[in-house]
Amino acid sequence: MSAETLNYDLGVRAVARCDLMGAPPYSEHDDQLVRRYLTAAHAAALGTLREWMEAAGMSVRCDGAANLIGRYEAAAPNAPALMIGSHIDTVRNGGRYDGALGVMLGIDCVEALAGRRLPFALEVIAFGDEEGSRFPTSMTCSRAVAGDPVSGAGALRDADGVSLAEALAAFEPAQGEAPAMRRPGELLGFLEAHIEQGPVLEAEGLPIGVVTAIAAQKRLLARITGVAGHAGTTPMHLRHDPGPAAAEAILAVERICGAEAGLVGTVGRIAALPGSVNVIPGAVEFSLDVRAPTSAVRDAAVGRIAAELQAIVARRDLALTLEVTQDLAESPCDPTLTAMLVAAMGDVGVAPRRLPSGAGHDAMVMADLCPSAMLFIRCKGGVSHNPAEAVDPKDAAVAARAMLAFIERLAVERGGAKR
Ligand code: HGY
Ligand code: MN
Ligand code: MN
Repeated sequence: MSAETLNYDLGVRAVARCDLMGAPPYSEHDDQLVRRYLTAAHAAALGTLREWMEAAGMSVRCDGAANLIGRYEAAAPNAPALMIGSHIDTVRNGGRYDGALGVMLGIDCVEALAGRRLPFALEVIAFGDEEGSRFPTSMTCSRAVAGDPVSGAGALRDADGVSLAEALAAFEPAQGEAPAMRRPGELLGFLEAHIEQGPVLEAEGLPIGVVTAIAAQKRLLARITGVAGHAGTTPMHLRHDPGPAAAEAILAVERICGAEAGLVGTVGRIAALPGSVNVIPGAVEFSLDVRAPTSAVRDAAVGRIAAELQAIVARRDLALTLEVTQDLAESPCDPTLTAMLVAAMGDVGVAPRRLPSGAGHDAMVMADLCPSAMLFIRCKGGVSHNPAEAVDPKDAAVAARAMLAFIERLAVERGGAKR
């Protein structure tokens, strides 16, 4: 299906474009959506996004971190830009709208201007890595743009042993391109439209909401080491098996994080190594993702988890390593832009429901570079990071109209177009 046969209704087309990108060549697999950073699926998505951005009247470039950026010039040259966008990568077996919808809505907004120039430029960005689903880090691309690159990122290796630097060097769209970093002052602000990935808007019958703040999150990799052995000949009382220790540890994460409102803890990946069914594992590795409204609450919980893990391995005469792979403080959205977004929602007749985000977003990183604001879009059942993720195109249309109303308000404030 080409762009021409897509529905051009504002917002409706954005959802259709996400659907189009839910399958190969924009996914690494045909039975589930996986679009990881610097893969062929990522490159295919950038190729089609480039066409759509150009058709919307933007000049398009790929930066040195493989972010795709469309620019719609202002009435005057070299004007600062309002940047709109989100990430184009996905989790494994992910949904079609997490990230991608914010990119498509940005393109919709530029196209809806139909050549009219504003007192600021508009840039639409597709960040290449937000999820961290290929390399053991995340937000790589928005951190490169915001001037806080992940230290040592190039040396990080994916499950196949390919380093990020090798993958970037082989990623044709980014070859020879300028580094991603933007200077303060180049951007007036950053606006990210994103599915809520939670149940609040649906429960209250609202199509969109405005984000007040994004939760603090910390990711760690735990490794419990014992002694590999023969599954058949090693008596139970002579084993140093990290498997049951990991089971105790994961239950401890559930208990500690379940004890406090707003605190969440997730073990999303577990690996028994070397991974043969007839071998007592020599080690068990598992991921930890701990989040809370504040870094203080998050870190206190991580401290309690670490202490429990130490006690478990000591009792079992095993060893433990805990490595922090990501550490993002809570990020309040910019009050001025958020107030403008609330007013814009009023312009399109939607009650301004303010709500926090438990999910992480590029906006929390971009906030280090420029004022950042987020708009949430209702998603069915609040389901996300799951192929059942679903969005009503009518809600995407409301979001697009609210974003255009926001752009109009900003234009008036910047002394441009009359409302
Ligand atoms: O994990 C998150 O919150 C986001 O989906 N990357
Ligand atoms: Mn996500
Ligand atoms: Mn996302």
